[in-house]
Amino acid sequence: MDRRLFCRSALAAGFAATTRTSTAGELTAPARSGIRVTGEAHLFSPLEIRGVTLRNRIAMSPMCMYSSEDGFANEWHFAHHAARAVGGAGLLIAEATGITPEGRITPNCLGIWKDEHIPALRKVTDFVSAYGAVPGIQLAHSGLKGSRHRPFHPKRNQYVPPEEGGWVPVGPTAMRYRSGGPMPRELTIDEIRATVRAFADAAKRSIAAGFQVIELHFAHGYLGHAFLTPLMNERTDDYGGSFENRVRFLLETVRAVRAAIPEDTPLFVRFSATDWVEDGWTLEDSIRAAKLVKEEGVDLIDCSTGGASGNAPIPVGPDYQVPFAAGIRKEAGIATGAVGLITEPAQANAIIADGRADIVLLGRELLRDPHWPTRAWVELQPDTPAPIAREYAWALQETRR
Ligand SMILES: Cc1cc2nc3c(=O)[nH]c(=O)nc-3n(C[C@H](O)[C@H](O)[C@H](O)COP(=O)(O)O)c2cc1C
Repeated sequence: MDRRLFCRSALAAGFAATTRTSTAGELTAPARSGIRVTGEAHLFSPLEIRGVTLRNRIAMSPMCMYSSEDGFANEWHFAHHAARAVGGAGLLIAEATGITPEGRITPNCLGIWKDEHIPALRKVTDFVSAYGAVPGIQLAHSGLKGSRHRPFHPKRNQYVPPEEGGWVPVGPTAMRYRSGGPMPRELTIDEIRATVRAFADAAKRSIAAGFQVIELHFAHGYLGHAFLTPLMNERTDDYGGSFENRVRFLLETVRAVRAAIPEDTPLFVRFSATDWVEDGWTLEDSIRAAKLVKEEGVDLIDCSTGGASGNAPIPVGPDYQVPFAAGIRKEAGIATGAVGLITEPAQANAIIADGRADIVLLGRELLRDPHWPTRAWVELQPDTPAPIAREYAWALQETRR
């Protein structure tokens, strides 16, 4: 859309929207979930989860910025989040944030393993909240995939050895994530327990830093997912083998984090809902796990896929992961987020209105255009003024050039 037309239609107003008479998007609140939805759902209907209300169903998917020193947030993180809060998203989930220094993917990843990290994050969350978006954070441990150079380093994705500021990666099982990579170390039981505590401590710090939604990263082959999938977990103790043993780390982490955060704080988990390979983690496993974490007070499953196997035949295309969000939502009776190549407003709206997910998460499309939510509003509800920050709105209304 041409920029002027965008501004004019964003402000011109009148209401015609895409509100549907169908009630397909309504969510029946699961027993112990904190979500309440009233009325019919569409991309711009608010969503109440425990004590938090999202102004719409559009979330920024967590995306590593690889731009921290010693885990600290800085001006880049402020600008990145500020732009997308002003752009109209309902929820911003900050990138995979290391719960320990070794839980980072690269030495440049964001971290929250010490109290000193809190003030700089607080600046980000204060601004995001002031502009109507809800600040969320993804708490993460990189596991076997840790200690790599950031993608825009000349040694892109290569191992960073300890003598160059890296570390020896750890996992449920000591297996190389890819050939030629470092040989990781298997976590001891004591270290697993310490990692659970580190998640809980990081969650407490997140609350102190002003985050209102906590997401646990159990996807993409990182530590949490590595415990779940038989492709990466060959343990023979209580944390490996059967499904019940492989979900133990997940359940212990969820319990510890839920106990560490206020009752009215929403808790999300990101799963790789399938490994896309035989003998891997499946949609059925994800549904079983979703039912278990729902009982422990998780409110929403953010449904990504893949990451455990480099050779998985992933049918990448628009909506390719949405069926997983729809399946988990239907079968586990828990709210879900859909992510992956959601780029068009009508596409995103249909996912919500059809009841396939409760929120959509946009990654690269929000990098391309922080104002995508406003653009979507203009496209879907051209006769209603889009909510725009007052600093811009007055100028767009009152200036004629
Ligand atoms: C630059 C970049 C960084 C990412 N970092 C993370 C991350 O920190 N945590 C995560 O769970 N997914 C991460 N992802 C995956 C996205 O959250 C998202 O699931 C994926 O990009 C698919 O959505 P999209 O098609 O809208 O981009 C990242 C993706 C990109 C492009």
